[in-house]
Amino acid sequence: MTPKKKIFVTREIPQVGIKKLKDQGYRVIIHRGENPLSKKELAKNVKEIDALLCILTDQIDKTVIEAAGANLKIIANYAVGFDNIDVEAAKRKNIMVTNTPGILTDTVAEHAIALLFSVARRIPEADRFVRAKKYRGWGPMLFLGSGVKGKTLGIIGLGRIGIEVATRMQSGFDMEVCYFDVSRNEKLEQEYKITYEPLESLLKKSDFVSIHAPLSPTTRHLVGLKQLKMMKKTAYLINTSRGAIIDEGALARALKNKWIQGAALDVFEFEPKLVPGITDLDNVVVTPHMASATQETRNKMSEMAADNIIAALSGQQPPNLIR
Ligand code: DGY
Repeated sequence: MTPKKKIFVTREIPQVGIKKLKDQGYRVIIHRGENPLSKKELAKNVKEIDALLCILTDQIDKTVIEAAGANLKIIANYAVGFDNIDVEAAKRKNIMVTNTPGILTDTVAEHAIALLFSVARRIPEADRFVRAKKYRGWGPMLFLGSGVKGKTLGIIGLGRIGIEVATRMQSGFDMEVCYFDVSRNEKLEQEYKITYEPLESLLKKSDFVSIHAPLSPTTRHLVGLKQLKMMKKTAYLINTSRGAIIDEGALARALKNKWIQGAALDVFEFEPKLVPGITDLDNVVVTPHMASATQETRNKMSEMAADNIIAALSGQQPPNLIR
């Protein structure tokens, strides 16, 4: 009898994908701890498995990949971003790498928009104020925020999520949208009526800047001290992509010194920590990397990761192969 193919899952994920894998007759081993596995633990676990289903906090670097046994066919990331995986090292060992694109676009876009309104209308700050029993009655100057309709939105990274945020804010709130991307796309500009701006002019003209770029050596610290100083004093910065695209130390200075009006962050440079001082400030809204966290989307991500594994282990090309 041929031994069952073995799949290691680094964290509990919605059952639907696990069930799919078990229905194929695979042996599924799930690490049930809350803390991410260390590189040493990952390296130990990849030795005798056929597939790895990992999450974005697992650092699947060269050392982990080199420790993999000959059976490992696929690393299926439970995320659209895959900056946690050394894809080139995996390719050298003929290990396929997959992600979960598309299915989380709407959910992440909705969270980015929710953050935009939260920070512009100071909702978490006002909530804290009421809960602290500080509210004494309606006041003409109480919690003045910033309007959104008709303002300029600058999108950094015009991928699926960037486009979704752009089009919803154009049609719903008459926003004028411009974008910056490391690669300009004139076809998308025409299709969505979005204008391209070099980063510097996008930062200078936007009232809201929302980041939707993947993390890469080119985008790391794309928004640093110099860029923050270019922004309008009344502008807001929103980030739902990867924390390290912003130099968070510089952002803390910008927020403290009111170089910009506010920021809303779902992702931090050194997750789960934020640089000291940021959470003491009222002009920042923070959420714990939860932009894709709806039951529906997480179920779909679980299914998609499972489908990628099933294809790879059946000798087919997985639908979401990263090339
Ligand atoms: C991703 O998928 O990359 C998000 O950051 C988490 O859902």
